[in-house]
This record gives sequence, C-alpha cells and structure tokens, in this order.
Amino acid sequence: MRIGVPAETFPGEKRVATVPEVVQKLVKLGFTVSVQSGAGDAANFDDDAYKAVGAQVAPDAAALWSAADIVFKVRAPDAREVGLMHEGQVLIGFIWPAQNPELMQQLAARKVTVLAMDSLPRMLSRAQKMDALTSMAGITGYRAVIEAAHAFGRFLTGQITAAGKVPPAKVFIAGAGVAGLAAIGTAASLGAIVRANDTRAEVADQVVSLGGEFVKVDYQEEGSGGGGYAKVMSEGFQKAQREMYAKQAREVDIIITTALIPGKPAPRLITAEMVRSMKPGSVIVDLAAEQGGNCELTEPGKIVVKHGVTLIGYTDLPSRLARQSSTLYSNNLFRLAEELCKTKDGVINVNMDDEALRGLTVIKDGSITWPPPTPKLPAPPQLVSSEKKISTPAKTHSRGGSAPMSGNRLAIMFGVAAALFWFIGAYAPAEFLGHFTVFVLACFVGYMVVWNVTPALHTPLMSVTNAISSIIAIGALVQIAPPAMAGVSRPDEWIRWLAVAGIALTAVNMFGGFAVTQRMLAMFRK
Ligand code: NAI
Repeated sequence: MRIGVPAETFPGEKRVATVPEVVQKLVKLGFTVSVQSGAGDAANFDDDAYKAVGAQVAPDAAALWSAADIVFKVRAPDAREVGLMHEGQVLIGFIWPAQNPELMQQLAARKVTVLAMDSLPRMLSRAQKMDALTSMAGITGYRAVIEAAHAFGRFLTGQITAAGKVPPAKVFIAGAGVAGLAAIGTAASLGAIVRANDTRAEVADQVVSLGGEFVKVDYQEEGSGGGGYAKVMSEGFQKAQREMYAKQAREVDIIITTALIPGKPAPRLITAEMVRSMKPGSVIVDLAAEQGGNCELTEPGKIVVKHGVTLIGYTDLPSRLARQSSTLYSNNLFRLAEELCKTKDGVINVNMDDEALRGLTVIKDGSITWPPPTPKLPAPPQLVSSEKKISTPAKTHSRGGSAPMSGNRLAIMFGVAAALFWFIGAYAPAEFLGHFTVFVLACFVGYMVVWNVTPALHTPLMSVTNAISSIIAIGALVQIAPPAMAGVSRPDEWIRWLAVAGIALTAVNMFGGFAVTQRMLAMFRK
C-alpha cells in the first residue's frame, strides 16, 4: 500500500508527519511512501533527503492524495483536503473528534477510515510507543521553558562573577502532568529553583526526582480523578490553592501553567491580581491558552506584556521545535504502522478487536465509531480485609506468599538435618565438624536476616554482603599464602585451589556488587 505524506496546510504549522529516517523503516515494512514536494521544508527535511531514502516526491497535494491508500498527517484535514479523499482511504493524524463533529460527518461521508492519534487509549502500556500526545506534550514543556528564558531578562542559573552576584531565577510550574514534568526537568537543568504544584498528590515524588520542590495546598483533598487525570476540586480547595498561588506569584520570576482536566475548560489559577503582584520583568507561559487559559490575562496565540509581566500564550509550541516534534511524531506513526501491518507486507489491517486500534479508530469505512467502548483495564488488586491480614501473619512475611510450613514437614527436615550432621560427625575429621557447625549456623542466621528484609532495603544490604565477601577473601588469602607469611602450616594442594576459587568468586561478588551499585546511583545522577 502507498503511504502519502502531504504538506500541512494549517497556517504556521511547520511539522511534517514523516521524516526521512522513518520513511526507510516504512519501506522495510513493505510500504511505498510518497511525500508532497516541500512537505518537510519547514522542519528542515528537503525533498532530496526523502528521495535519498526511497520516497517518491509528488508535485502537489492533489497528486499525493489521489495516489495514497493511507495518508499520514499532523493536523486535521481542511475542507479542501477532505474533498481530495476517496472511498476506502485511511487517514491517520490528530482529529479531536469531540471538538470537530462537523469534520467527522464530512469524513464519514467520504466513506474513509480515520485513526485519530489523540484518541489513543493512553492507559494501555502497549500503546505508549504510539502516544503522540505525550511526545508533543514533552516538547511543549521543554519549549515553554526556552520561551520563558528568552523573554526573561536574566540568567536562570545563579552565578557569582567579578561583575556581581546573580541569584538563580525562581520558576513555578502549575500542573505536573507530561508537559509540566518536562518543564520542571528543563528549568532545573538550566539552574533555576523550581517549585511545582498539582492537585494529584501522587506526582509529588516525580517532581522531586526531576529536581523540583512540590508545594502543597494547605487543604486535605485528593485530586486524582482516575486514569492519571485530575478531577475538578471543591470550592474550599480552590480557595486554599488561590492563596498559595498568590504567595508564589509574589515570590517567583517565571510561572508556567499546564493545568488541564480533559473535557473541561482550563482551570483559572492565575488571576489578574496575581499578575499585578509579580515583579516587573517576570514571565508567564500559559500552555492551556487554547482551552481558555490558566491565567486570566492570557491572549491565545500571542505574546503580550501586562503590568510589566510578559504573558506567552502560544498554542503551537511543538511546531516551534518542528524538526524534533516531527521526528518523535513520525516515530509514533511508525509504531502504529507496525501494529497495523503485523504481516510486514505493506498491507494494513485495522483490527477492531485490538483495544488500542479500536480506541484510535474514530471512523471505519464511513461509519463513525467514536466514542469507543470503555477499554477493559486489568481488574484492580483485591483488597485484603484487615481481619484476614491479622489471621494469616505468616503470609505477609513470606516473600513468595507461600503457605507456612506444616509441623510434620518441619519435623522431617530437622530429622534429615540431624542425621546428616551425625553422619559427618562420625566420619569427617574433628576440626571439620567445628567449621561445618559454624557454616551451618551462619547459613541459618543469614537466611533469617535476609529473608525478612523489605525489598526496598536490598541495596544497602548488598553493600554489607560485599563487606562479608571481603572477609571471605581474607580467609582464602591466608590459605594460599606461603607458610612463613601466614604463620600456619602449609595446607593441602586441593585446599589451596579451593581458596583460589574462593578468591575468584569473592572478587566477582565484590567488583560486580560495586559496579551494580554505581550503575544504580548513576540513575539518580544527571
Ligand atoms: P496532562 O493531563 O498530562 O497534565 C495536566 C496536569 O494538570 C495534570 O497533572 C493534572 O493533575 C493537573 N491539574 C489539573 N487541574 C489542576 C489544578 N486545578 N491545579 C493544579 N494542577 C492541575 O496534560 P499535558 O499533556 O501535560 O498538557 C498540559 C497542557 O498543555 C494542556 O492544557 C495541553 O492542552 C497543553 N498543550 C499546549 C500546547 C501549546 O502549544 N501551547 C501543545 C500541547 C499541549
């Protein structure tokens, strides 16, 4: 089948749905790819780059749409593009079916199939690789900080120079979803002091792990509305939140607002009064400008200065980083193409039994299939009642959750161990029995100690294990040392070889343990 990539027609849109790197991968999947001449120019991908990887270049939109079986787009098609579509064609791009009911009717009338990238069921972990909303939001958060830094008249990082001391800028992020977290990471990496707030308390750890400080609202209410999204908060919470935001507005230099509840107008978090209270030269970037704005004074699509504060209301931030966003978006489309074409023969199958594809498909062969049925998510784990927990204490301590050992089995095990001990005592040399007793007791104590340690404490436990390994190494070294050095009689040859093996194994444990610890620590370092 032929995939067509037209030039985007929305004014100012610089992204392109497929980049040359992905064309190559699509060709490997068995597709033929056509790109409209100049489609990638604004994202710095020229026609020659596409030709070099095997794409055909169509001279204009009409030629491209008429030849394509599948069309990859970024923005929803305009009226002219809908007119160019033919029966049986498949369109994949951002459609926003809830906001565009008329467009949905027009597309259905063309008897086409439409997959809306914005309708992907995001809670399915399998769908993450196709999640273009997340890719775009990450870029949005990053770009919001860059725009703010550009409009802000100072460094973001603190500096002490011969010319004077510069304090670090203070950045406050409202809403720590995908865009908010990206903004926190970016601002922190530029050296700013970052604070953030979200109604969902569960994101506090993520804020901290990215270098921010989570600022709580002094009011007890959980803000999670399920599925990783927020709910509309009570009047009491909103009042307490306004007070906290007013305090932050007086203190910080930059505010980036990203608060959103899907299907609801953007919550108004920054009032005109708060803007007035900010220091001159401060900046607000309102990512929710298109949904009415989180700030009262934002003008969508514009950058304005009010009360000495620069208000950035751009609604096209991913397009302002066109090369990056085109690359990520086309990778999301490629992952979707893989799901659609499992046979790798360039023929797609829109399988409506597949939950991810079902969610994405908003029109199938001219019939509107949006909204999809609620996806079947894995059943939540069964809550164990507190009485049940108390009645089975052994279960909560055993790691595998296996049943406690019965009295009979325990007795048999003890019997076997005692017989083994007697056997060794009767036949082995006297000093061996002493060592063996210590060894068995050490195993027992070690088992009892390690088995009851909470998994979260396993990392420090590993360091202790390393130390113990070092002690083993000392014993082994004594065994292989020359008699004069060790001050003991020379051991048998086979003991010396055992000691060598012991040193080798201990070394693996020691060096391996330290290497793993370093790698774990590196994950927390920037
Ligand atoms: P998201 O749903 O991942 O994050 C939104 C966050 O806001 C959630 O963590 C939610 O708990 C929080 N929130 C909701 N109500 C709140 C309240 N009253 N107070 C504090 N936090 C609250 O959304 P995502 O993907 O991060 O997008 C953020 C915003 O950026 C959206 O408004 C989206 O439409 C917009 N956007 C803007 C673009 C632009 O060019 N300006 C481009 C792409 C997205």
